[in-house]
Amino acid sequence: MKTTIAKIGQYVDQEVTLGAWLANKRSSGKIAFLQLRDGTGFIQGVVVKAEVGDEWFQKAKNLTQESSLYVTGIVRKDERAPSGYELTVTSFDIIHEATDYPITPKEHGTEFLMDHRHLWIRSRKQHAVLRIRNEIIRATYEFFHENGFVKVDPPILTGSAPEGTTELFHTKYFDEDAFLSQSGQLYMEAAALAFGRVFSFGPTFRAEKSKTRRHLIEFWMIEPEMAFVEFEESLEIQENYVAYIVQSVLKHCAIELKTLGRDTSALESIQAPFPRISYDDAIKFLHEKGFDDIEWGDDFGAPHETAIAEHFDKPVFITHYPTSLKPFYMEPDPNRDDVVLCADLIAPEGYGEIIGGSQRISDYDLLKKRLEEHDLSLDAYAWYLDLRKYGSVPHSGFGLGLERTVGWISGAGHVRETIPFPRLLNRLYP
Ligand code: 4AD
Ligand code: MG
Repeated sequence: MKTTIAKIGQYVDQEVTLGAWLANKRSSGKIAFLQLRDGTGFIQGVVVKAEVGDEWFQKAKNLTQESSLYVTGIVRKDERAPSGYELTVTSFDIIHEATDYPITPKEHGTEFLMDHRHLWIRSRKQHAVLRIRNEIIRATYEFFHENGFVKVDPPILTGSAPEGTTELFHTKYFDEDAFLSQSGQLYMEAAALAFGRVFSFGPTFRAEKSKTRRHLIEFWMIEPEMAFVEFEESLEIQENYVAYIVQSVLKHCAIELKTLGRDTSALESIQAPFPRISYDDAIKFLHEKGFDDIEWGDDFGAPHETAIAEHFDKPVFITHYPTSLKPFYMEPDPNRDDVVLCADLIAPEGYGEIIGGSQRISDYDLLKKRLEEHDLSLDAYAWYLDLRKYGSVPHSGFGLGLERTVGWISGAGHVRETIPFPRLLNRLYP
């Protein structure tokens, strides 16, 4: 029976065949242990000399790392194995013999591993992180579809800049200038006024000269947008969504979390509601903690965010930032015009901001004024202003950065390990 490692538990004490690669091996005079991987998981294959004979035992001992094989064997239940099973190998065929695989079981430096990212993603830990990424994407679609959201795909090539003009990737669009999307939000607002509740999932681009463990040049964002939803209700949707993906990973990625040594008790407590702290109170809190360098009106840096996050064991919303710190489209607080109805969600354990969101301005005149104040072209944004001209409604939305979220949930130390082929300040290869 041909099967995969993920499904092998259905065949205990039966003979199965796997297509697999040799991840690693060790052997003695009588027995060889083959660490096999097939993409769905890892399993140990045991080759016993007395059972396969001299010739095949030698072949097993000489197998090279990352050679591809068809392996046949009997499935054994084994409580100690991470997968819960082991394979007693009866025979195997070598499909392709690999020579001098560069990533050996010894330690390698980060730059070396990044240069071999196309191979590194086969390694146990990298594989586990990217499987967790896959589960977060799966759970995202499930959550939004179950809650009546429609998936809408905004364009990647755009003529406008939702998050400010300094970090745009510029390109030529025939005779016109164009930018790679830094957020699909403005288009998602149009979609929300057509479909009610929508979400997008796609790549976004920021030409940020930041070289931190939280910044990518190309990252993927989930951007929900909701008509007739005001600020508070949007926060409730955000906390339910984030709790949902964390619980889905706990449920479906137990082996991966174990492979990564992730402390799952910290994840189990991630249930809605999440705490909220206003920007004003966050500044006071930071002063009490001895951060004398920050004043009202300053943006938070990573140490500030981490200090606030450490105070809570769940993600925390920092709300009502000064208008001057945020983009042009945010709805002012009705009680004071120096802050806006926005929130950033800060992940625990120092992983930083994973969501930015707000209620959007719904008044035509105010939005026009803001565009002018930000020196943005009324022509380029004419379509966006139209949304306030024809049946404007209160609406809110947010963007969740996938890689930072994967980083937090998987415990990966750097966003470069949370995306298959990271685009970093100094890296376009592979
Ligand atoms: O806070 P940001 O810039 O918000 C927006 O783009 C809004 N238009 C979203 C919306 O309301 N629809 O980005 C949202 C999230 C951040 O919280 C962060 O998680 C992630 O995107 N992010 C990055 N992730 C990796 N590398 C970068 N350079 C990132 N910049 C933002
Ligand atoms: Mg932000």
